[in-house]
Amino acid sequence: MQNLDNLTLEILTGIEAATSLEALEAVRIDVLGKKGRVSLMMRELGGMDPEERKAAGQALNVVKDRIAAAIETRQNALSRAALDERLAAEAIDVSLPSRPETEARLHPLSRTIEEVVAIFAEMGFAVAEGPDIESDHYNFTALNIPEEHPARQEHDTFYLPPDAEGKRKVLRTHTSPVQIRTMETTEPPIRIIVPGRTYRSDHDATHSPMFHQCEGLVIGDGIHMGHLKGCLIDFCRAFFGVDDLPVRFRPSYFPFTEPSAEVDIGCTRDGGGLKIGAGDDWLEILGSGMVNPRVLANCGYDPEKYQGFAFGMGIERIAMLKYGIPDLRTFYDSDLRWMRHYGFLPFDAPSVHAGLAGGSV
Ligand code: PHE
Repeated sequence: MQNLDNLTLEILTGIEAATSLEALEAVRIDVLGKKGRVSLMMRELGGMDPEERKAAGQALNVVKDRIAAAIETRQNALSRAALDERLAAEAIDVSLPSRPETEARLHPLSRTIEEVVAIFAEMGFAVAEGPDIESDHYNFTALNIPEEHPARQEHDTFYLPPDAEGKRKVLRTHTSPVQIRTMETTEPPIRIIVPGRTYRSDHDATHSPMFHQCEGLVIGDGIHMGHLKGCLIDFCRAFFGVDDLPVRFRPSYFPFTEPSAEVDIGCTRDGGGLKIGAGDDWLEILGSGMVNPRVLANCGYDPEKYQGFAFGMGIERIAMLKYGIPDLRTFYDSDLRWMRHYGFLPFDAPSVHAGLAGGSV
């Protein structure tokens, strides 16, 4: 019995000394496993006489239970310690500052183009595009601006070096060449708008050597000046968001339209700032006219059969007016502080249904 007490003490000490679940399992196998020390002693009971067996058996069972209980206690303690250690190692430091998230802004020019496109899309116009590098033919000649025409000088054209045939391409001075390209390849009816980059050798607070225009072209059977006026009045009112915005058509001249008209909107400059839609002053915002029969003929159309109107506007100009941007050059400075001030949140895009006066109200 003295032996059994010593053995029990030794085993319990071993259990307490186990510092990992693996070590504890090794102790368990060594004691209670099939060939474990206590298991072997249990087996020896079989060879004893009944009296002896009863006493020894009871003693052994007590020891066995004590050991099993001690193992379980130690196991729980070790498991808890292992879990605590894992939690400590995997902890997320919620006090760590997050990485700064940069919030992008849509450039006012992109936004203005989107708005113009949305308004004309609602009127059934499709977007067309053309190349920035144009031939003299598309930029001038086909638009009824022949060699030596004074209008060529007004355009301050950037010319590229002559090609093998001695012909010099140009950086398009307006989006009007896309009128010609479209008419050459499309049968009427045509209803297009053409947003895009244009170039003129000019640089000050209201001019940049690269700027943007949006062209419009409508060709069909029986299109007349009334269509031009209705379309552009609706556009001006939708774009500036003023339902009763005064719109004036003033006679003008463009070689590719006849008659031609500049379009002005009502404004006032009283009190220093510019206010659109009130007062008795006028602001020019676009050029327009009935497509010159010569241009129709240049594109292979019979001017007796088809008529149309065209218009062109400067995107920078209408963006400056609508959003109160005083200097055109700032559009291209890539100044983030300016973008944060004048830019738009990308998810705030104009809806196609936002526009036409009288449409939803
Ligand atoms: N192309 C002209 C310009 O750049 C604008 C315009 C387009 C005028 C279409 C009339 C018709 O000034």
